[in-house]
Amino acid sequence: MPKKNTSHSWKILLYSCFRGVRCMETAEGFQCGPCPEGLTGNGVTCSDIDECRYSPCFPGVRCVNTVPGFRCETCVGLSYAKSNKQICLDIDECQNGGHGLCVPNSHCINTLGSYHCGQCKSGYTGDQVRGCQAERSCRSRALNPCSVHARCIEERRGEVTCICGIGWAGDGYICGKDVDIDGYPNEELSCPAESCRKDNCKFVPNSGQEDADGDGVGDACDEDADGDGIPNDQDNCVLTPNVNQRNSDQDIFGDACDNCRNVLNNDQRDTDGDGKGDACDDDMDGDGIKNLLDNCQRIPNQDQEDKDNDGVGDACDSCPTVSNPNQSDIDNDLVGDSCDTNQDSDGDGHQDSTDNCPTIINSSQLDTDKDGLGDECDEDDDNDGIPDLLPPGPDNCRLVPNPGQEDDNGDGVGDICESDFDQDTVIDRIDVCPENAEITLTDFRAYQTVVLDPEGDAQIDPNWVVLNQGMEIVQTMNSDPGLAVGYTAFNGVDFEGTFHVNTVTDDDYAGFIFGYQDSSSFYVVMWKQTEQTYWQATPFRAVAEPGIQLKAVKSKTGPGEHLRNSLWHTGDTSDQVRLLWKDPRNVGWKDKVSYRWFLQHRPQIGYIRARFYEGSDLVADSGVTIDTTMRGGRLGVFCFSQENIIWSNLKYRCNDTFPGSEQAVALLQAPQ
Ligand SMILES: *[C@@H]1O[C@H](CO)[C@@H](O)[C@H](O)[C@H]1NC(C)=O
Ligand SMILES: *[C@@H]1O[C@H](CO)[C@@H](O)[C@H](O)[C@H]1NC(C)=O
Ligand SMILES: *[C@@H]1O[C@H](CO)[C@@H](O)[C@H](O)[C@H]1NC(C)=O
Repeated sequence: MPKKNTSHSWKILLYSCFRGVRCMETAEGFQCGPCPEGLTGNGVTCSDIDECRYSPCFPGVRCVNTVPGFRCETCVGLSYAKSNKQICLDIDECQNGGHGLCVPNSHCINTLGSYHCGQCKSGYTGDQVRGCQAERSCRSRALNPCSVHARCIEERRGEVTCICGIGWAGDGYICGKDVDIDGYPNEELSCPAESCRKDNCKFVPNSGQEDADGDGVGDACDEDADGDGIPNDQDNCVLTPNVNQRNSDQDIFGDACDNCRNVLNNDQRDTDGDGKGDACDDDMDGDGIKNLLDNCQRIPNQDQEDKDNDGVGDACDSCPTVSNPNQSDIDNDLVGDSCDTNQDSDGDGHQDSTDNCPTIINSSQLDTDKDGLGDECDEDDDNDGIPDLLPPGPDNCRLVPNPGQEDDNGDGVGDICESDFDQDTVIDRIDVCPENAEITLTDFRAYQTVVLDPEGDAQIDPNWVVLNQGMEIVQTMNSDPGLAVGYTAFNGVDFEGTFHVNTVTDDDYAGFIFGYQDSSSFYVVMWKQTEQTYWQATPFRAVAEPGIQLKAVKSKTGPGEHLRNSLWHTGDTSDQVRLLWKDPRNVGWKDKVSYRWFLQHRPQIGYIRARFYEGSDLVADSGVTIDTTMRGGRLGVFCFSQENIIWSNLKYRCNDTFPGSEQAVALLQAPQ
């Protein structure tokens, strides 16, 4: 713990205990232990005891008082030495277990004339400074505190975390069945955590447990979510009670829930989240500059800087140094066509001219000290003068400047980054990327929509709804193929979520994507319910098989009918899509059933593995697949012609650790 000069510790500084006396912090301030042997007092002040008053020496031998202690006068003469032996009686300080002298659950060792405190007793870990806690370990059942239905994880510093297994929910010590795999158990559990509460929609995943009318039935499964007596499918405000159904602007939202009552805005977009929809907000991004004068209408930029003078502010310019007033970005990679070279030597999705480490694969582009050199090729990530690895390093806080390298507890991790390594204010234990200050929690609230068949009018575009603070996405429309892509780019990542089609209508594709670099380059895991030939036979006849597929998309044409049919088709298509793996069971997803996927991607070596669970059973496993087409990228979800898809309880986590030995062997055997 970093030492801070709080008023609390001042008190201790001003009135400390007598030298050598134990000082204990208490709620009122502090308390001193007993004075050392040979001294008496209250622990703050201690004075000498004149032991000689108790005639400790052998009769006839002179007693000399010392501070502290006493001694018996040296005697002279052989016969005296032979006949007189000094006798000291030891006091056993450790009687009653050394209570009050040593920390609880540790050994107290009595010595002649003194004692000392030893190690923790068996079954306990720690030391005299940190205390001795009951030992917990994942390695032995006896010491494992987790539920039998939980995974036990050993953290740094020997702490143990329990996480209920897939298909179970609870606090990890107690886990109950969770049929819809949204993180809430079917029945109430007797533990205090939020995740022990009974699921308010047992069969429909709703990881946010939203319940607009507070009737105990979650919105996701409540036929009248706002309790106004009008069923959802007829209600123009599903989550706001409005018996009158008044709707001034005749859009699909009634006045009671319309963020622009008098302007038709079916998207209800509200960039600055001020409750006023963009369609009727004269300052959409809330930066104090009215839309008409704002060179970034949807990104706050009070400075209005515009290096290339193209009328588009740097903050939102897809080419900040090349004039491109129309901002066109045909491949949806967030780099404008005018400055998009698509020259990417290391394949990490960042073109050489802007890659902060052009020759090192690093999709996340993390640059902690903002010196223009990515961490991956910066020898001093935090610019504190202590090199990351080389002497006088290694830096004990690689991402937080601490030139003094203070480390009070000597554990090799600097005080300033002890529990929050990247100092992003989210402690490591819950930080999904403890070594990246820019990524803290799973959040898809900000996302880019990518339409994969922009010209085709085969179907409408998808409608995405994001719930549970960005950890749940719902797509409601029977649509053309489309993606919702988060903005965060990853190197190695673990990505998991619950997949559920909440309707008996239709039998089409849904899935998720990873390694997204642009709308022509990404990986997709997609799943169809039944076999079907696509209804548009041009440019070629595409046949979809049921069963989970893992595909690498590297499209020469980009979004359009070629890519559309290639996505639909189960198999390889030249210049478009390569099928990397297909579930040999060849079974489709079932209506209204929850599946959990777990994906590992390690772009450094091209390692990909996807697993699917139904309930707590593993039902499909791609095994180790090696592909290096995309060296990292962004995450998102995918749909094609399927409505009412829920991606629930989404979780991502940075992970650059290569999987264990048995997979490593498989890796070596895999063809490159
Ligand atoms: C956008 O402007 C560039 C030149 O700056 C031009 O080449 C391109 O065709 C324009 N794109 C669209 C879609 O208007
Ligand atoms: C990219 O940078 C991150 C953060 O510095 C690092 O953890 C990761 O290993 C790097 N990726 C590669 C492929 O080197
Ligand atoms: C990272 O991945 C490895 C396997 O590649 C796994 O053993 C480890 O548990 C993962 N770490 C976290 C924090 O999930």
